[in-house]
Amino acid sequence: MARLEKTDVVSIDDLTLPEIERVFTLADEFAEALARGTSLTLANGLIMATLFYEPSTRTRLSFESAMHRLGGAVISSADMRASSAVKGESLADTVRIVSAYADLIVLRHPQDGAARVAAEYAPGPVLNAGDGSREHPTQTLCDLFILRRKKKKLKGLTVALCGDLKFGRTVHSLIYALARFGANIVAVPTSGMDVPAYVLERLAAERNYSFSTVTMDELKSLAGGLDALYLTPSAPHQMALFTGDLALGKVPAGEAPASLDAFYVTRLQKERMVGKEIKPGEYVRFDARALKTQRTQEAVVMHPLPRTDELAYELDTDPRAVYFEQAAVGVPVRMALVAWLIEQKHDRTDAKPAGQSIRFKAEPYPRCANSNCITRFEGPHLHPRFKLARTTDRHVLPLRCEYCERELNVEFVGHARSHRYYKYDENLYGYVRQWIEEPSLAVFETVKQAEEHGYEPYRRGPQREVMNADEIALAVESLADQIAADVSDLTNVYLIGVVSHGAVLATRVRDALEKKSGTRAPCAAVDVYRSQDAIGELDGGAPFGVEGRTIVIVDDVINSGWTVQRAMTMIWQYGRPAAVRLAVLIDRGHRAVPIRPNYVGKNIPTSPSERVQVRLAPSGHNGKPKAHDRAMIYSMVEPIKTAEQVK
Ligand code: CP
Repeated sequence: MARLEKTDVVSIDDLTLPEIERVFTLADEFAEALARGTSLTLANGLIMATLFYEPSTRTRLSFESAMHRLGGAVISSADMRASSAVKGESLADTVRIVSAYADLIVLRHPQDGAARVAAEYAPGPVLNAGDGSREHPTQTLCDLFILRRKKKKLKGLTVALCGDLKFGRTVHSLIYALARFGANIVAVPTSGMDVPAYVLERLAAERNYSFSTVTMDELKSLAGGLDALYLTPSAPHQMALFTGDLALGKVPAGEAPASLDAFYVTRLQKERMVGKEIKPGEYVRFDARALKTQRTQEAVVMHPLPRTDELAYELDTDPRAVYFEQAAVGVPVRMALVAWLIEQKHDRTDAKPAGQSIRFKAEPYPRCANSNCITRFEGPHLHPRFKLARTTDRHVLPLRCEYCERELNVEFVGHARSHRYYKYDENLYGYVRQWIEEPSLAVFETVKQAEEHGYEPYRRGPQREVMNADEIALAVESLADQIAADVSDLTNVYLIGVVSHGAVLATRVRDALEKKSGTRAPCAAVDVYRSQDAIGELDGGAPFGVEGRTIVIVDDVINSGWTVQRAMTMIWQYGRPAAVRLAVLIDRGHRAVPIRPNYVGKNIPTSPSERVQVRLAPSGHNGKPKAHDRAMIYSMVEPIKTAEQVK
C-alpha cells in the first residue's frame, strides 16, 4: 500500500494559496527546530528518490538534507548519465521502477514538461525540481518564504525581475505565484530574453493579470533618475509592469511603482540557448549602485543562484542581499513540503479541473512545436496532448501542449470519419469544436501529410493526369541515369527516400541504378513526422550511416521544399555526409524555401494553389511499371464558408 497519497507538485499552481501558507507555517516551525537542534522523526520509514538529469547543488542537496532532518531516507541518482537512461530507458519507465523503491520522487529534467510526464506515470508523489525552462515550483516556495520573512507580506509588493526571463524557470513559477498573491511585477529582461508568450497567456487567462510597458523615463524615475537601474550599462531593456486585480491599486497600470521591494536577479541560462550569443556587457550587471536611490533603498536583492557575472560580490555583505539566506531556507521549506505531503489524506490527482484535452484517435498525432518539449524525446508511448488555445490569428487553429504549454498553430484540419481535410480559417471553429467532441478532429502540418494519411481535400477542382505509369517508369530510368552520370563512386551512395512515396521511389531508383551499373546502393527511409528513430534501412540493407557518403534524398514531388529541408536536418543528426543531393520525380518549380533538386524526373510548372499527387506501387522484382502508377494535378478550393458546404 502506498505510504503517501498521490500528490504531485509539477507547477506552483498545483498548490492553493492556503496550502502555500500551510507550507510556510510548517517551514517556520522547522526553521526553529533546526535552530534548536531538535531531532525529528516525522518521515521515519519513508524514502525519497532524487532523480537529477541536470546538475544541481541547492535543490538536490537541500531536498536530501530536508529528508534526513525529518528522519527519512534518501536514494539518489545525482547524475542520470550513470543510470539506465543512457541505455534509452524512458522517463515513464524510470519513474515507474523508482516508485517501487521510494515513496516520493524529486525530479529535475532538461525537457519542458518532463515533470508532468513523471507525475502521470509514477504511482506516488512527484515533486518538480525544475523541468527545462518551464517551472521550478519548490524554488518559488523558497523565494516567497524569504520575501515574506523580509517584507512581512506578499500582497502589494513590487518585485523587479531582471535578466533572463525567457529561459529562467524559477522566474516563471515566481511570476505565477506573485500574481496570485497580488504582487506587482516589473519585468526587466535582457534584450531578447523577455517573459515568453505562453507565460503571459496563462497570466492573462487564469489570473486576469495584465501587463503594460513602462517607459524608460518611468523606470528611471523609479530608480531615482539613475540609468536604467544600472542593470545594463550598454543595452537598454524593454521593461514591463505587471499588475493584477488583486494588487489593490497600489500601482495603476502603465505607471511606475513608487518604490521597489525586491530585485530578483537571474543568471543567463546559457545551457538552454541555441544559436544565440549574448555579448559581454549586454547582460544584467547588478551592483550596489542600484540600491542607492530613495526608491530602492528598502529593496532586498534575491537570486535563485548559482550566480555567474550578473551579481557583484560587493553586495554580499549588504544586509539587503538575501540570496544566501534564500538558498539556506531551502532545507526548512523543503522539510515543510515533505511534511505537508505526509499530511495529505486524499488523492489529489484530479482535484483540479483538468479542462478538455483533445483526443486524436489515430495517426498522425500532432507534434508539439517546441523542440525541447518532453513529447519530442520520450517515445511513441507518449502521445502529445493539446487543448484549444485562444485565437489571435483567424487563419490558424491554436492548440496548447499540455506538457510544455507552448502553442501549436495548425493550418490544416481534417475530419477523421469523412477523411476530408481543410485549410483552417475561423469559419471552421464551430465545426472543429464539434469534431473535438465526437472525437474526430485530425490536424496536419502540411497538405502533404494529410494526403499521405489518405485524406482528400474537402473540395478540389477537376483533376488531370500529368504522368501515366509508362512516363513514371521512364522518369525513374532518367533519374538513375542522371545519378550514375553525376556521382563518380556509386559504391559510396546511400539513397534516402522521404516516407512514403519518396521511399518507394528510392527503391525503384536503386533497382534501376543496379541494372545499369551492377552496384546495389543501400536504401533508407526518413519519416519527417517522427521525432525518434526517424530513419530506418529499407529491405534490410546495409546499416544506416551517412558519414563520408554521398546521400541522395529521394522524394516524389517538391511542394514547398519544407519536407526535404526537415529530412536534411534529420540526416545531419546522424553524421556528416560528403555530399547531399536531391532527386525528385516531379519538380513543380514553385518552392517556398530555396531547395533545388539535382536530379529531376519531369518538370511540371504549377501555381501555389495547385496540387500534384503521385501514386506509386512498391518496386517489383521484375522492375516493370505498375499499372496504377500515376501523377495527377488539381486545383485547391478555398476553405468552406457556410454550414451547408460542410455537410
Ligand atoms: N536554484 C537552484 O535551482 O539551484 P541548483 O541548480 O543548484 O539546484
